[in-house]
Amino acid sequence: MTDPEISRLNQPLNEWLRGRHALTGEPPEWNLDALPEEPTVLFREWMLQADAAGVAEPHAATLATVDASGVADARTLILKEIDDGRWAFASTRSSRKGAQLTDSPSAALNFWWQPQVRAVRVRGPVEEATAEESAADLAARSASAREGIAPGDWVRWRIIPTRIEFWQGSRDRRHTRVVYEPVGDGWSQTIIRD
Ligand SMILES: Cc1cc2nc3c(=O)[nH]c(=O)nc-3n(C[C@H](O)[C@H](O)[C@H](O)COP(=O)(O)O)c2cc1C
Repeated sequence: MTDPEISRLNQPLNEWLRGRHALTGEPPEWNLDALPEEPTVLFREWMLQADAAGVAEPHAATLATVDASGVADARTLILKEIDDGRWAFASTRSSRKGAQLTDSPSAALNFWWQPQVRAVRVRGPVEEATAEESAADLAARSASAREGIAPGDWVRWRIIPTRIEFWQGSRDRRHTRVVYEPVGDGWSQTIIRD
C-alpha cells in the first residue's frame, strides 16, 4: 500500500465520509411532459439507459423485507422479470428472506444507477408464483447456480406494486420524483420537486 492510502486508513471515519462526493454523474434530460402511462415502460427505458451508460449490473437491486417482529432486513438480488406488472425475484424458501416473506408477505426493491443519478423504488405485497413457475425459474439458471438447491426450495416471488417511485438527482439539489400508484386499471402519476 502506498503512503497516501495508509494515511487515509488513519483518518477518522466521519472525516473520510464527509470528504466523499454524492450524486456525482450526469443526470440525463427527463421530459416530464411525456411520461409513459405504464411505470414498467419508464423502468425499462431507464434500465436500458443505465446499461448503455456502463452500469455493470443494472438489474441488481436491494430487496427489503421485515421479519415477524417487524424488524427490517435487506440484501442485494437480481430482478428476474416484470410479470404482468408484478416484479419478480427468486431465492430459496429456506433463506432468511424466505422465512421473512412467509411471515410478512410484503417487500420493497430499490435500484440505484450511476452515472445517471437515478433510483427506482418499488413496494407492495408479495405473492408466491406457482410451483411450476418456480421450477421453471430454477431450470433457467446455470448448472452451477442450481447446485446445492433442494428440490422445491427455490421460489419465485412477485411484488404487486402499490407505489413505484422514479427519482432523478440534480446537481442543484432540486431532485425530481415521479410516483406511480395504481388507480383502477391504470396508474396515477405525481410529480414531486424536492
Ligand atoms: C449482485 C448480487 C446479486 C444477487 N442475486 C441474488 C438472487 O437473485 N437471489 C438470491 O437468493 N440471492 C442473491 N444474492 C445474494 C443475496 O444478496 C443474499 O446474500 C442471499 O440471498 C441471502 O440473503 P438472506 O439471508 O437475506 O435470505 C445476490 C447478491 C449480489 C451481491
